[in-house]
Order: sequence, then structure tokens, then C-alpha cells
Amino acid sequence: MSSSKFWDKIAPGYAKSKIKDIESYERKLKITQGHLTRNMNVLEIGCGTGMTAVKHSPFVNHYHATDISSAMIEIAKNRAKENQIENISFEVNDILNLSVKNNSKDAVLAMSVLHLLDNVHDGIDEIGKKLKSGALFISSTACLGDKMQFLKVLLPFMRLVGYAPSKVHFLKKKELLTVIEANNFSIIHEWQPSQTKACFIIARKL
Ligand SMILES: C[S@@+](CC[C@H](N)C(=O)[O-])C[C@H]1O[C@@H](n2cnc3c(N)ncnc32)[C@H](O)[C@@H]1O
Repeated sequence: MSSSKFWDKIAPGYAKSKIKDIESYERKLKITQGHLTRNMNVLEIGCGTGMTAVKHSPFVNHYHATDISSAMIEIAKNRAKENQIENISFEVNDILNLSVKNNSKDAVLAMSVLHLLDNVHDGIDEIGKKLKSGALFISSTACLGDKMQFLKVLLPFMRLVGYAPSKVHFLKKKELLTVIEANNFSIIHEWQPSQTKACFIIARKL
């Protein structure tokens, strides 16, 4: 199953699912909002059902929410409408094919998506291209290579029953930080609530 088909299929269930660690989610929202300003133009990669997009849009000038899955974007559009968010636009596209101009964004968000890309290095390189110099890259990424290696055994079965996408990288936190820095970013904030939880990183484009 192609990546977009998998996410299209699970979109309705994903929209209904509860955030597992609401405290950490809210802390990440707060830290992110501490870096957002009213004049910023923000891009989000892999926005899913738009939950985070809707929370951040009121703090910026414009928010472009993108995702490879049209079903996810459809839900995100409805969520924005319900919340009367008007400074938001949507795009169904792979991170590597976005219509966004290079050097045009003040911040790019990638929440729970980097480890699902075909190539993490290429994805982060693309994010770097979309950002202005000095702009921010904000991400939260499952670093499954550190303490969640056991999932490697379970993944083939999960895929078989349609519970896992075709691509899942078992990144280690150290590797992720190295890839981000190798793509011309300087890490300015890093927080991981526990070793089994996603790593939240804010980096500045040099
Ligand atoms: C685990 S969900 C996270 C959604 C949302 N960011 C969140 O935190 O709830 C991963 C999302 O990334 C999207 N995605 C996966 N591969 C992608 C790609 N190559 N380009 C853009 N989006 C992608 C999926 O469609 C899905 O909506």
C-alpha cells in the first residue's frame, strides 16, 4: 500500500484518537508559541488532521498546512472551518513536491512525521530550503532506535493487518540531531519527556 493510501485509510480513526500524553503535547505547543510572532509565515509538513495547525494559526500571519494524505487534509480543512481560522491554507502533497517557494518561510513544523519519510536527510534538506536564513525548524519525532527496537519485530505483523505504514525509520536521537545539524541548522532547544517518548527539537537555519 502506498504511503498516502495508508494515511487516507486511517485518517477517520486518527481524527477520533486521543493524544496519549496531553501534558507533553501542551508543553510543546506552549514552547512553540513562545517562538511564534504575528508576522510569521509558517509551513507545516505532515499536518495530519490539523489539530496543531489550528492551535498555532492564531499566533502567526499565515499558516500553510500540508500532508501527503487528502483524507487527512479534508478533516483538517473542516477543523479549521469549525474553529473559524481564516489565515490558513492547505496542500495535499509529499514533502518533496510542495508548491512552497524556497527561502519563504519563517518557521517549518514537522510533528510526528520525520521518521515516516522515505529519506529523513532529504526531507530535512527540503525543509531547510523552504526556510529563510535564521528561521526556525520545529519538530517532534519518535526516536524508535533508542529504546523501542522491539517494534522492529512487530512491524511486519502490524503492516500485514494495516496498522503500520510501509516506511518507519528506527532513528536514534543522536542520529536525528546529527542529520539536522548536517543540514545547516543549529539546535536551540531539545526536550524528550522520557527515553521512550518523542524528541522535541527546535533548530535555527544558519
Ligand atoms: C503520525 S501522523 C502525524 C500527524 C500530525 N502531525 C500529528 O502530530 O498528529 C503522520 C502524518 O504525516 C503524513 N505524511 C507521511 N509521509 C509524508 C510525506 N512524505 N510527506 C508529507 N506528509 C507525510 C501522513 O499522511 C500523516 O498525516
